[in-house]
Amino acid sequence: MRKRLTRISMDYKILVLDDEEGIINTIKIMLNRNGYYCKGITDPIEAIDVLKNENFDMLILDYIMTPINGDEVVSRLRQFNKDIYILMLTGHKDLTPPLDTIKVLDIQGYCEKSDRFDQLLLLIESGIKSISQMRTIKQFKDGLNKILQTVPKIYQLQPITTIMEEILKGLMPLVNSESAFILIDDFNNNTNEKKVIFKGVGTYDIPTEDLIEKLSPYLMEQIGKSREMNEVLSLESGMIYPLHNEYNTSMGVIYIESKDFKEGKALIEIYARQAASSINNAHLHSLINMKKEELDWTYKELKKRYLDTIEALRLTVDAKDIYTRGHSDRVAYYAMKLGRAFNLPEDQIELLRLAGIFHDIGKIGTADDILFKTDKLEYDEYEEIKKHPLKGAYILSAISMFQDVVPLVKYHHERIDGKGYPEGLKGDEIPFLARILSVADAFDAMTTDRKYRSKLNIEDAILQFKMNAGTQFDAEVVDMLIKILDDFETMKKELDETFKT
Ligand SMILES: [Fe+2]
Repeated sequence: MRKRLTRISMDYKILVLDDEEGIINTIKIMLNRNGYYCKGITDPIEAIDVLKNENFDMLILDYIMTPINGDEVVSRLRQFNKDIYILMLTGHKDLTPPLDTIKVLDIQGYCEKSDRFDQLLLLIESGIKSISQMRTIKQFKDGLNKILQTVPKIYQLQPITTIMEEILKGLMPLVNSESAFILIDDFNNNTNEKKVIFKGVGTYDIPTEDLIEKLSPYLMEQIGKSREMNEVLSLESGMIYPLHNEYNTSMGVIYIESKDFKEGKALIEIYARQAASSINNAHLHSLINMKKEELDWTYKELKKRYLDTIEALRLTVDAKDIYTRGHSDRVAYYAMKLGRAFNLPEDQIELLRLAGIFHDIGKIGTADDILFKTDKLEYDEYEEIKKHPLKGAYILSAISMFQDVVPLVKYHHERIDGKGYPEGLKGDEIPFLARILSVADAFDAMTTDRKYRSKLNIEDAILQFKMNAGTQFDAEVVDMLIKILDDFETMKKELDETFKT
């Protein structure tokens, strides 16, 4: 019969001291079979020496030995090692050390030698459990100490990026991380423009304006999600911790790359709260130290690169599907036309334009075979497609500068009668601009060829809108669409000129 091989873990090291070689061998076999590493020594004096130089978690030792007994070994050992877990093997009941000695020497357990070692194994396993708990407590204590040492630094008045770097330096050792970053909103500027402040360490030690290229759409999506839901997210590559101020408003995130979180997780949550409040406090002061021009430049560059990146991603999505090519641009155009017809202010027209361009950006994450399927979609596949408004919203909410576009993207498939998705909002619950976007989106879908049907002419499209006004679409927006379609020929010309393809 083939022997079962157990992998021996070096997580816990056990030393067995007994002057009978046979006992050592028996215990060794039993421990190895249960996956524990163990070393055996027959001479008590040598054992003390070994324990001085080598780190062991547990000592199992005999009581009656020569030249010194087990209690004497422990007494000498305790002079330099208070931590090691000790189990004593005893012979006959009358050969047991007095209970007082056991207590004084801090011996955690004892057990009578017998032919079978079931009881010993139980004692060892419960000992290993306590050792593991002690390690956790120690790690926690060390971590808290580290945090306490760093906290004063992060409360000092210094430039915000220095504070952020201090925070990262405090956090990373807790989970053996080598790369991490903090991304926060620059909520303290007086302009309406939303800016971000970024500080990274390790692979993320890059200028702010490069960060968009560095972060994957997936990570952006998860950052947005963590911020929206105010939840710690655990990814394969690391963890995202949302930061919020005392009013529970999202300020940004900390991302820490590591595969080794374990107990560090809870520590980081404690620290993240400290970090958020220190950032909050220091932000006001430190901003004064930053050159305004520098911020402005970084912001413009960042916004440009972000738009460029998303634009590139969007074009990839568009380019993948010949039937929807140009769709987003046309939706943006129709949405703006409708917005203007409603006399909306220019900033809202700009929102409609951005939302038109990016409304389906969430499809980046949808598998090609679902996106381009010509047959009827299965239930699960349709459910997957239905996630795109939410995914898109997350991608855009990673950076606060697009926060006003987020609701439009998120709700562009909602219906007035509440039968839409992702939230099933009804009537006025759906933002007005999202209702406009929904009509613009549907109008372009109806009037262009799709893989599953040919385009409708204007009259049939209008008929469709009339039939679905008040259920799928906002009736007021439908009326406005019909009104502006009087001039459809001019619109077509304008579109052709703007998007010569
Ligand atoms: Fe969509």
